Amino acid sequence: MQALEDILQQAESAINTAADLKTLDHFRVQYLGKKGQVSEYLKTLGSLSPEDRPLIGQKINSTKEAIQSLITKRGEALKQAHIAKQLAGETIDITLPGRSTEFGSIHPLVKTLAELRRIFTEMGFVFMDGPEIEDDYHNFAALNIPPLHPARAMQDTFYFPDGRLLRTHMSPVQIRTMKQLRPPFRMVAMGRVYRRDFDLTHTPMFHQMECLMVDEQVSFAHLKGLLRQFLQSFFQSEVVIRFRPSYFPFTEPSAEVDIGCLKCAGKGCRICKQTGFLEVLGCGMVHPNVLTMAGIESQQYQGFALGLGVDRLTMLKYGIGDLRALFENDLRFLTQFK
Ligand code: DAH
Repeated sequence: MQALEDILQQAESAINTAADLKTLDHFRVQYLGKKGQVSEYLKTLGSLSPEDRPLIGQKINSTKEAIQSLITKRGEALKQAHIAKQLAGETIDITLPGRSTEFGSIHPLVKTLAELRRIFTEMGFVFMDGPEIEDDYHNFAALNIPPLHPARAMQDTFYFPDGRLLRTHMSPVQIRTMKQLRPPFRMVAMGRVYRRDFDLTHTPMFHQMECLMVDEQVSFAHLKGLLRQFLQSFFQSEVVIRFRPSYFPFTEPSAEVDIGCLKCAGKGCRICKQTGFLEVLGCGMVHPNVLTMAGIESQQYQGFALGLGVDRLTMLKYGIGDLRALFENDLRFLTQFK
């Protein structure tokens, strides 16, 4: 009787220290298995006196039951602890703030292109297109730049082996338009152009806008009026405008247009290189040769044209110091235009 009592006590402390279900099962076999410690006592029953036999038999059974219930209880506790641990590990803190999605912003160049489109649409211009891969005729010859003309050296051109080229300016769209529309018309074209240039202020690809108006009795005064209205609308301020005589093969007379420096208002600063002015575009009256080559009667019709760098205009408007920033897609730069 005492030995069984001792076994029960041993079993109790062993079972209650079992750290996992496997260890617990090991104890079950040790105490209750066929060859377990309690079962061993069954074999001794035969040698007992008839009076003792039922008492000991009962004791064996109650010990077995007691151990089994200890095992069941411990097993339950271990299962619960396991579930609790798992739950704690998988907890989601629904009070944490969520990860927000950043909204994108419109690229400054795209903003400028949209702004130019708005301004020139309001003034009744139509938008025309041309290919980025051009031929010599549209990019040069038809613009009064014959072979060996020195103006070809002004624009370092990317050529394809077959003689075609990446357009060096948007002026070829003038030619395509004149062949497509009968005067009078006013057109604008915006797009990518390419030159073999790469430094602080030049990238091999940049953007230009070209503008052409052809009608009877179009004069330089119309050009000046248009430029004033356009530049003031674009920069949203009373800009000072200066015309400087210049040369382009496809216009005569030709001019370059400067605006009073937006930074220093003409006093002279680093941006305008102490001149008080910023160069913004080239323009002029369409050369009669160009009209004639495109099949337009140059005695009856005149035209004015202008071309400008969209990237440069964007830099001036937003005070961007490095042209390359427009093409590097650095988010620290781009998110400033939200
Ligand atoms: N095509 C010239 C260039 O890329 C810019 C230009 C100057 C266009 C004068 C014009 C113009 O239409 O009249 O350098």
